[in-house]
Amino acid sequence: MQTLTTVAALTDILEGLRHNGRTIGLVPTMGALHQGHLSLIKRCVAENDCCVASVFVNPTQFNDPKDLETYPRTPEADALMLEEAGCDYLFMPSVEEVYPTPDTRQFSFGALETVMEGAYRPGHFNGVAQVVSRLFELVKPHKAYFGEKDFQQLAIIRAMVAQLGMNIDIVACPIIRETDGLAMSSRNKRLTPKQREKAPLIADILVKSRTFARENSVEATIRYVSERLRPEDGFKLDYMAIVDGRTLQAVEDWAETDYIVGCVAVYCGPVRLIDNIVYKHAD
Ligand code: PAF
Repeated sequence: MQTLTTVAALTDILEGLRHNGRTIGLVPTMGALHQGHLSLIKRCVAENDCCVASVFVNPTQFNDPKDLETYPRTPEADALMLEEAGCDYLFMPSVEEVYPTPDTRQFSFGALETVMEGAYRPGHFNGVAQVVSRLFELVKPHKAYFGEKDFQQLAIIRAMVAQLGMNIDIVACPIIRETDGLAMSSRNKRLTPKQREKAPLIADILVKSRTFARENSVEATIRYVSERLRPEDGFKLDYMAIVDGRTLQAVEDWAETDYIVGCVAVYCGPVRLIDNIVYKHAD
């Protein structure tokens, strides 16, 4: 694996590969890699001639400066894991390299961005669109890989690619969980042992809510989850939403659409975690 820190080195190498007819896959990350990321890397390696991973903690997507400051950074371990997973190129640029001048672009994703994360983290998805579009312009991948844990992010990136007319196949990859069910996340590293012990309750409650949902209304299911993420266990709920899996708009009735997902954002101590569960998907 080769590590590249400049746009010039990256574009130079990738132009050569493209010229030789090689397919390029991209896995954008913010580092602090875990098995969830590695599942994206392995899929990217299997499906493309060349796998590029980026590790860049993008400042423009953090609406909370404290969150940016405390975001875990483990560059050496990341490089080692990527190399072992078969990644070909690691792009690890500085902020100045990605944003030589401040990115003032304003994206608009309509109703997709006014709900859930978009409502609780103003400006977050604009920052995600800025950095992902920049990475797409630099790498020009044939395919790009994203985890389904960030369910709304995936919808936003698909919308962005459509808006910008980019010919990139966005590949959604399933959530990877710890053995106790906790969705893998770089933020899990910040949990204290006590919080880490409680955190799997999030997935546990979501799974149980799927059984509950079979005999109960959407409203009651939202209540079921919300009431079980209790402050006594160290949780503070931002939202539990049950939405159409395509439009991300709240549904009121299970019969309303054929694709329904429950999305939750909850603080476990000071660490904000997200997770989701599919209630209904007619494939
Ligand atoms: O999901 C993430 O880690 C980030 O939002 C992404 C897509 C790498 C953009 O910074």
